[in-house]
Amino acid sequence: MLSTFHSEEPMKKKGPQGKEERPPPTAGPSGPPLGEPFRWRSESDEPTPARLSPVDDRLSADAALKRVRRGEYLLYTGDFHNAKQLLGAMGRRLSRPAGAGSLLEAFRAERRARQLEHETLSRIVVALDRDYRLGLARAPDVAQACRQVWGEPELATTVVPLKQLLGMLGAAEWRRKGLAVPGLKGLLHPHYGVYLPTRTDYAELLLPLPQVKGKRVFDVGTGTGVLSFLLLQSGAVSVVATDCDARAVACARENAQRLGLANRFQGVETDLFPEGRADLVVSNPPWIPEPPKNRVDRAVFDEDNLFLRRFLEGLTAHLEPGGEGLLLLSNLAVLLGLRPAGWLDEQLARCGLTVKWTRSTQARHSKARDRSDPLHAARSREVTTLYCLAPAP
Ligand SMILES: C[S@@+](CC[C@H](N)C(=O)[O-])C[C@H]1O[C@@H](n2cnc3c(N)ncnc32)[C@H](O)[C@@H]1O
Repeated sequence: MLSTFHSEEPMKKKGPQGKEERPPPTAGPSGPPLGEPFRWRSESDEPTPARLSPVDDRLSADAALKRVRRGEYLLYTGDFHNAKQLLGAMGRRLSRPAGAGSLLEAFRAERRARQLEHETLSRIVVALDRDYRLGLARAPDVAQACRQVWGEPELATTVVPLKQLLGMLGAAEWRRKGLAVPGLKGLLHPHYGVYLPTRTDYAELLLPLPQVKGKRVFDVGTGTGVLSFLLLQSGAVSVVATDCDARAVACARENAQRLGLANRFQGVETDLFPEGRADLVVSNPPWIPEPPKNRVDRAVFDEDNLFLRRFLEGLTAHLEPGGEGLLLLSNLAVLLGLRPAGWLDEQLARCGLTVKWTRSTQARHSKARDRSDPLHAARSREVTTLYCLAPAP
C-alpha cells in the first residue's frame, strides 16, 4: 500500500508528568523525507496511515499512548533501544482483562485485550530506506530479515510497525539458528509468519508409527512441514503437503531441501487437500473455532470448525482403499465451551468415519503450568489426541 509522509503542526503542551513536550521534528537527518511516497507493510492488514507524526526519544509512554489512542501513527526517529523500551512501557500501561465469569468469557476477554494491545503498539512505526536500513541510532542490521519476508524493496521508503519488525528479527534468528524438534533428525528452520511447532507434544504423538513405512502421504495444513518430515524420516515413500499460506509452503520446501528430503516432498499452495488419493492423510488443523483476526491467526483459529468439517467430509475421497487419516486435535475448544463434547463423534458419524485407535498426551507447554493464567483451569487439563480414522466398513 502506498501513502506519503506529512509533517505535523508543531505544538507545545504539557506532558503527563508536567514535563513540557518539545515539538517533534518535522524531518531529521535520520528521518524519512517528508512528502515522499512509502510502502506500508502491516501483517494485520491495517490500512496505510493517512499521516505519520515524527517523534523521538523525548516522547514518554503516557504521551505516546494518549496520541495513538487519538488515532495517530507515530514515526519513531530516535534511538532504537529507546524505541523498544517505549513499546515495553506502553504495553505495561495497558489494562489486563478483569477476572471474567466463565472460562469462555475469560478466553474472549484475553483475546480482545491482546488484539487491542497489538493495535495500540502497532501505531509506533519506523521507516526503512531503499536498502532496508533503519535510520535510528544504535539500530541493528534488519535488511536480511526484511528481504526474507518481503523480498526486494519496492520503493525508496518502507514503513512498518516497530512491533512487527521486532517479530521479524526474532523470526530471522530462529530461521538462522534452527529449532530442535524431538524425534526429528536435523533442525527445523522456521520462517516468519509460519506456525512454529514449539509445542512439540503433539508431534511426539506421531512417533513411533510403524504403519507409515512405504506409504504415500498427504499432509494437510503443513506449516513448517514438520509432520511431513517426521513421517518421511519414519519411512514414508513420499509426502504431498499443502497449506493455504504461500509462506508456509515456501518454508516447508526450504526445510525439505535442508533435511535432504526434497526428492520425496512436494509442497502445494492450496485450500485443504491436494489432488488425488494417498495411503495416509495427516493433519494438525487450527484448533480453536473462533474467527481469525489476521493471516497468522489462521494457523490457530478455525471459524465455525470450517477446516475440520471440510477435512472430515473430504477425507474418504482422498484415501486409497485401506487408507487412514491421522488427525491431531486438542480438547481445549471443548474445555473452553467452544465445541460440545460429543461434536467430533457426531461429525465422524456424519462423514462415515470410524476411529481405529487414539493416542493422547497431556499438554506440557509452560502455559499449562501457569496458575496465574485466568485460563489455567482449561489449559492444565488440555489433552491432545491423535485419532486414526478410516472409512466405516
Ligand atoms: C496448527 S497449524 C499446523 C502446522 C503444522 N502441520 C504443524 O503441525 O506444525 C495449521 C496450519 O494449517 C494451515 N491452514 C489453515 N487453513 C488452511 C486451509 N484452508 N487449507 C490449507 N491449510 C490451511 C495454516 O496456515 C497452518 O499452517
